[in-house]
Amino acid sequence: MEQREFDAKYSAYRQAVEAYLDSLFMDKPHWADLYESMRYSLLAGGKRIRPVLTLEFARLAGLEWEKAVPVACALELVHTYSLIHDDLPCMDNDDLRRGKPTNHKVFGETMAVLAGDALQPEAFRLILTAPDIAPEQRADCALILAEAAGADGMVAGQVLDTLHAPKTEEELKEVDHLKTGAMIAGACKLGAAAGGSRELLAAAEEYGYQLGLAFQIRDDMLDVIGNVDEFGKPIGSDKEEGKVTYVDLLGLEGCDKIVLACTEQAKAAVRDCDSDGFLAFLADSLAERNH
Ligand code: IPE
Ligand code: IPE
Ligand code: MG
Ligand code: MG
Ligand code: MG
Repeated sequence: MEQREFDAKYSAYRQAVEAYLDSLFMDKPHWADLYESMRYSLLAGGKRIRPVLTLEFARLAGLEWEKAVPVACALELVHTYSLIHDDLPCMDNDDLRRGKPTNHKVFGETMAVLAGDALQPEAFRLILTAPDIAPEQRADCALILAEAAGADGMVAGQVLDTLHAPKTEEELKEVDHLKTGAMIAGACKLGAAAGGSRELLAAAEEYGYQLGLAFQIRDDMLDVIGNVDEFGKPIGSDKEEGKVTYVDLLGLEGCDKIVLACTEQAKAAVRDCDSDGFLAFLADSLAERNH
């Protein structure tokens, strides 16, 4: 796939995601301050990698991808909640996200916690009411999201990361697998499930976990070598919080090698189903990302 073709496809997916997210929480109840806080983070300009993955896997599963937009955005709601809570003083204590002040800096900690709380059930509402997805597929999608985000998924990773002080390569791998891999693999599986394909699930899972590991290690590298304007997050946050990352254990060059190896494994997992090479192109571009 050529860069131009990739950009056009990514941007079509992304525009559909932005438009759908922008249609949410528009009413003006007298608790519209909650909506404002949720919309602030939802529409702050994320890369939308996870919903893009869902849409592409839905397409590969044989569904018209537009029909999977609510399901794709559901996972983005949960991702956004995870970032709002991740930035809180009791977690990573960060002031900048997607180039803007973090949710709690603008709306206060109480509202930030509550906006995150609301985004989680709202995500399941979007799946369970997705108009063009059959009831059985909706149920499969809800289960995939629950498992990706739950007590044996992303939240488990956050607990290990913030409370268990992981230090060895093995421990860090487990943290990254859970806190980041689970949601990225979940996004891929969600698309396969929305399209009703059981055959694609294993490839989606393997691709997602390998991509997720590469993605988190690249994130840890950018926390050291990134540029704040491009990265949109504070540089040096991990060190400030006393976290050990792959960068401490393997150095930047060692990290580069693992990122590339995981990227190759991700591409290998989808070699037989990545019909136009979009998934391979995405994996390669994320390995070199600066934001
Ligand atoms: C940030 O994810 C959290 C990590 C897993 C490193 P993204 O880098 O996808 O964040 P946004 O959604 O583009 O802001
Ligand atoms: C990913 O880890 C966290 C989530 C699961 C939300 P980080 O804490 O490294 O993510 P950033 O760097 O704050 O985006
Ligand atoms: Mg964190
Ligand atoms: Mg963080
Ligand atoms: Mg980080």
